Amino acid sequence: MSLTADTDVLKRAVGFSAVDRYVRSGTCLGLGTGTTARWAVARVAERVARGEEIVAVATSTATERQCRELGIPLVALGEREIDVAIDGADEVAADWSLTKGAGGALFREKAVALAARAFVVIVTPEKLVERLGAFPTPVEVVPFAAVTVACAVEAAHPGVRVRRRGGVAPFLTDNGNAILDCAFGPIDDPAALDAALRAIHGVVATGLFPSGLTSVVLVADANGTRELPEPH
Ligand code: A5P
Repeated sequence: MSLTADTDVLKRAVGFSAVDRYVRSGTCLGLGTGTTARWAVARVAERVARGEEIVAVATSTATERQCRELGIPLVALGEREIDVAIDGADEVAADWSLTKGAGGALFREKAVALAARAFVVIVTPEKLVERLGAFPTPVEVVPFAAVTVACAVEAAHPGVRVRRRGGVAPFLTDNGNAILDCAFGPIDDPAALDAALRAIHGVVATGLFPSGLTSVVLVADANGTRELPEPH
């Protein structure tokens, strides 16, 4: 089996397991975005087809589309209390802070995670790191201010790149904003860096999720799916 196929098997396992562990009939569920979260969406669809009353808040137009195609009832953010949100991550640090946003859905993903009573992060082992920062941090910015924000960030931390779609046109998020991918290197204090970036006029959100937001980290590897012990 190829590495990609292998990883996809693990993503399916952790996505299915999260839904089986934390979702009951009656649950209002936040559904994440990406190649891991899509398996959680698929599992929810199976449960809805069996007659369970599950409703979802989608974290992106892509997830919204998948939910509609598979018959999962949707509600808007703020319409119902969210019992649990399930989402993938690009990096999970030892203190459970996260980097998210490779797919560009960071703003809605953070909004849903913040609103949820519990936030379950589903990953494959290569996402586990000691400290965040090897993966460039996505920063969502208002397009009008993209260059001034990029210059302000670059002055302190060289290595800022405007994300592009197909190499030419700037990538735009579901909110119509641009993304700067920032190569910060090892990040000592993700919450402080997140706050400093958000203080720059034009920054909408960053892909740095503070450690306190994560309730559970579920990891699938060749031995099965397990919850990580909470960090001290
Ligand atoms: C979407 O914007 C991201 O935050 C994803 O949740 C994250 O990139 C993980 O995606 P994969 O499960 O596809 O690796």
